[in-house]
Amino acid sequence: MSSDLHSALLTWYQRHQRRLPWRGEPDPYRVLLSEVLLQQTRVEQAIPYYHRFLQRFPTLEALAQAEQEAVLQVWQGCGYYTRARNLHRLAQQVVAAGGVLPQSARGLRALPGIGPYTAAAVASIAFGEPAAAVDGNVRRVLSRLLAWEHPTPKQVQEAADALLSALVQQKDARPGDWNQALMELGATVCTPQNPGCGGCPVAAFCQGKASPAHYPASRVR
Ligand code: ADE
Repeated sequence: MSSDLHSALLTWYQRHQRRLPWRGEPDPYRVLLSEVLLQQTRVEQAIPYYHRFLQRFPTLEALAQAEQEAVLQVWQGCGYYTRARNLHRLAQQVVAAGGVLPQSARGLRALPGIGPYTAAAVASIAFGEPAAAVDGNVRRVLSRLLAWEHPTPKQVQEAADALLSALVQQKDARPGDWNQALMELGATVCTPQNPGCGGCPVAAFCQGKASPAHYPASRVR
C-alpha cells in the first residue's frame, strides 16, 4: 500500500506541480531563500521577492557582504522583517565559517531563523536528505489520510517520518519531491475548504475522504 501511495503522489506531482521558479533549482542558497520566504508569505506574493532578492544578492557571499539596510530595503513590503535580518546573519555566519551551507537538517537548524520545518525542507530539497518537512498543509493532508481529528504535532511528525522512511526503501526515492508533493497536494487539492477529492491522486488511500471537513478538527475550547 505504501509504495502505491508513494508512486501515485510522486507521479501526480511530476505532472501537475506548479512551475515555481525555485523548483528544480540546484543552488542550495536559492532553495533556502524560497523556503524562508514561504515561511510567512504566500507563493504568488513570494515569487517577485524571490527574483528581486536574487538580483540584488545573487550568492550567499554577496548577501553576507551587504549592509543590513540594503537587505531590509529589498524585503520591503514582504513583512516579517525578522526573516530578512536572520537570513543576513545566517549568510555572515556561514561565509565566516568557510561559505558552505550545512547539508543536514540538524546542521541547518543551528542557523539563525531556521526551525525544524525549514531545515527539513532545505535538507531534503537541496541535499536529498530524507527529512520530513511538516507544515500546515502537510498536517491537514496527513490528518485526512489517516482520519485523525485531533492529531498532536508529535503524531503528525511521526506519521510523516514513517511515510518517508518507507519511501526511502524504494529506488529513486526523491525525498525533496516527496515533501513538496505533500505540500502541493495540500495547497492545490486537499485544501481547507472544498477539497477536490474527485481529482485527488491518493483518494484510494484516504481514510478521511467521506468527510474531509472533519480533519483536522479545530481544537475544543
Ligand atoms: N511551502 C513551503 N515550501 C514550499 C515548497 N517548496 N513548495 C510549495 N509550497 C511550499
